[in-house]
Amino acid sequence: MAWDLRKRIKDSERKKIFGGILDESTLMALYKLSNKGFFDVIYGPLKQGKESSVLLAEKDKKKIAVKIYAIEAGNFKRMHPYLIGDPRFKRVRRDRRSIIYAWCKKEFKNLERSRKAGVSCPEPITFMSNVLLMSFLGKDANPYPRLKDTKIKTKETLDKIVSDVRKMFKKAKLVHGDLSAFNILIGKKPYLIDLSQSVLLSHPNAEYFLKRDIRNICKWFNEDDKRYYEKVIK
Ligand SMILES: Nc1ncnc2c1ncn2[C@@H]1O[C@H](COP(=O)(O)OP(=O)(O)O)[C@@H](O)[C@H]1O
Ligand SMILES: [Mg+2]
Repeated sequence: MAWDLRKRIKDSERKKIFGGILDESTLMALYKLSNKGFFDVIYGPLKQGKESSVLLAEKDKKKIAVKIYAIEAGNFKRMHPYLIGDPRFKRVRRDRRSIIYAWCKKEFKNLERSRKAGVSCPEPITFMSNVLLMSFLGKDANPYPRLKDTKIKTKETLDKIVSDVRKMFKKAKLVHGDLSAFNILIGKKPYLIDLSQSVLLSHPNAEYFLKRDIRNICKWFNEDDKRYYEKVIK
């Protein structure tokens, strides 16, 4: 089912398609993005979660992923520790909406830095309020499978992932912070996704997060994480 957001959607229809994920202010942000020409049509959700939903949209026949961070349901208290000590977010207020908007902007900025560093991750397009637009990683209308959904255990794949973790660390000066087989999509190559909680190296827990990321990944591949940690930091 496709939606042209430039036309008014009836509330009842909107609820039918998007369920609880689109509150008024989110819908406004989508209207604005659509009016600015960032996409022509929007389809129902690819993935619907408690804290975020990802929708599929299209611009000139090119697919776009639209990630929406839930304002009401999100556990925003969990987010605050990842914002502390980050000079990019020094002035963020502590109320729910401000923190979630900062979270969205953070993922955009982290994707931008990571792409510049040559990391395989979605290309960020723009963001507004709690809505992030990025390139769609998938085939037809289906996102690539998560590493979790595959049986891939090859060293070649692990090496590619670790090389991206290293680029993030060495060039983008970032640590993913939530890396696991859930946040890697497998296309022609592995892609790191879900960078909202990624932190700068100046974050007090950066080293701890990096070790945990590498441990999570090595566990999936049954490899020794200490060796791979050395590879990343050396
Ligand atoms: N750029 C993208 N292209 C295609 N699918 C995506 C993209 N980003 C997210 N998804 C889909 O949405 C799911 C959840 O995205 P993710 O960023 O991990 O959000 P969450 O914070 O909810 O874990 C992914 O597992 C994937 O299926
Ligand atoms: Mg995720």
